[in-house]
Amino acid sequence: MTTVTGLLLALSWTGSCVSQHQHGHSHLEPRAAATDCSLYQVSGQSATPFENYRFLDFRSLSNYTASEPAEITTQQDSGEEAVTSPYFNSSTFEDVFQILSGVRNPDSNPPMIYSAQNAYISAAESADGSDTYLTVRTSRNKDFQSVAQMRSVESVLHASMRICMKVLEDSNDTVAAGAVVGFFTYKSDTQETDIEILTKRSHHQFQVTNQPSTTEPAGTSNVSLATGKNWTDWAEYRVDWLQGQTIWYIDDVLGYQTTNSVPTEASALMLNLWSNGGSFSGNMSVGAQVRIAVQYIEMVYNTTDDATSGGTATRCNVDGVETKGEPQVVQTSAAVVTTCIASSTFFFGLVVPLLYVLIDL
Ligand SMILES: *[C@@H]1O[C@H](CO)[C@@H](O)[C@H](O)[C@H]1NC(C)=O
Ligand SMILES: *[C@@H]1O[C@H](CO)[C@@H](O)[C@H](O)[C@H]1NC(C)=O
Ligand SMILES: *[C@@H]1O[C@H](CO)[C@@H](O)[C@H](O)[C@H]1NC(C)=O
Ligand SMILES: *[C@@H]1O[C@H](CO)[C@@H](O)[C@H](O)[C@H]1NC(C)=O
Ligand SMILES: *[C@@H]1O[C@H](CO)[C@@H](O)[C@H](O)[C@H]1NC(C)=O
Ligand SMILES: *[C@@H]1O[C@H](CO)[C@@H](O)[C@H](O)[C@H]1NC(C)=O
Ligand SMILES: *[C@@H]1O[C@H](CO)[C@@H](O)[C@H](O)[C@H]1NC(C)=O
Repeated sequence: MTTVTGLLLALSWTGSCVSQHQHGHSHLEPRAAATDCSLYQVSGQSATPFENYRFLDFRSLSNYTASEPAEITTQQDSGEEAVTSPYFNSSTFEDVFQILSGVRNPDSNPPMIYSAQNAYISAAESADGSDTYLTVRTSRNKDFQSVAQMRSVESVLHASMRICMKVLEDSNDTVAAGAVVGFFTYKSDTQETDIEILTKRSHHQFQVTNQPSTTEPAGTSNVSLATGKNWTDWAEYRVDWLQGQTIWYIDDVLGYQTTNSVPTEASALMLNLWSNGGSFSGNMSVGAQVRIAVQYIEMVYNTTDDATSGGTATRCNVDGVETKGEPQVVQTSAAVVTTCIASSTFFFGLVVPLLYVLIDL
């Protein structure tokens, strides 16, 4: 009796393996969890995948919202204010980014002072289903510019980094001139690749640059958003920093690519909002403030520690997935054959000896 059941079980196992071959590789595929991903493939021109993935989602942090923190006063000229929400102390955030605070950059006029009070989680219910976003701001005081900067904890060597953001209009439906929004990689002034929104310029364009932009031939350009769209609308800005090439996208559309002055050294990934009174940014008027809203930051990257594991890698797609921020295992027919062979081996290796044991009984 036991023997017969065992035999039937074994036969049905074989049957399912065969039917898997016959039905191709759609619904019968074994699904690996995305948490098993060890290589991340991005859309576009990167021929090889990356080894690390981070998705910082600021869209549903309702339990971390705070009312808008007070503007930095003239007395608060050391930048030592605390973070505005326990979110910035949570490992979700802290393992990825540090918010700069207590730093004074005296070299500009006005000097820039970095304060963590310029980053906070705002309640902002939106038609797209999101409840919150990250707000980052800069404001001009009489004697200094209060600024904000987030820097990645890890050093990155090549990356595809994306940010979904918009510049917020003030109560007069305008944006004060003189601020720069930077989303960039930084090691030094000659190892840097930038996405920059300048609020004094056209609201329809942003600038992309491999530094230094002064070397010839330069790797820099202005990129336009889609017709009718401005950076006061939600948009996804992306730069792919690859070996020997940088490629910028706006809302998945290629904006500019270059092989000039591409950084070669491991760098930090940064987000900042600043103004130093120089000719590039311009000057903000005393009392003026510029804010941006960020829905998410997505980072796909390698570090200098990465080395091909040699073992079996689970390759995942970052783009064109069902849910943004949830990479999906790449399904190939090769994987199905392998799995089927693997289960046959399992069958002959384990179930068959088991049958003999049962028959002996
Ligand atoms: C907010 O909610 C998340 C889970 O949804 C939880 O992990 C976290 O501890 C909560 N934080 C606070 C401050 O309540
Ligand atoms: C964040 O952590 C710092 C240092 O541990 C602490 O002083 C501060 O109170 C914390 N802030 C919040 C909002 O949890
Ligand atoms: C809006 O415009 C009014 C009138 O010009 C001005 O007094 C006020 O400061 C402006 N508000 C902002 C936030 O710029
Ligand atoms: C975009 O900004 C420009 C100013 O740079 C303005 O003239 C135009 O009306 C704006 N367009 C939209 C769709 O808001
Ligand atoms: C981008 O446009 C600004 C004017 O809005 C111009 O000053 C700057 O030189 C342009 N940059 C590039 C790289 O063409
Ligand atoms: C910006 O303002 C400061 C003083 O507030 C002034 O010294 C500096 O020259 C201004 N910069 C520009 C580019 O106008
Ligand atoms: C990332 O690192 C892996 C392992 O060293 C390598 O095979 C791959 O080519 C790298 N990807 C990029 C885009 O540089």
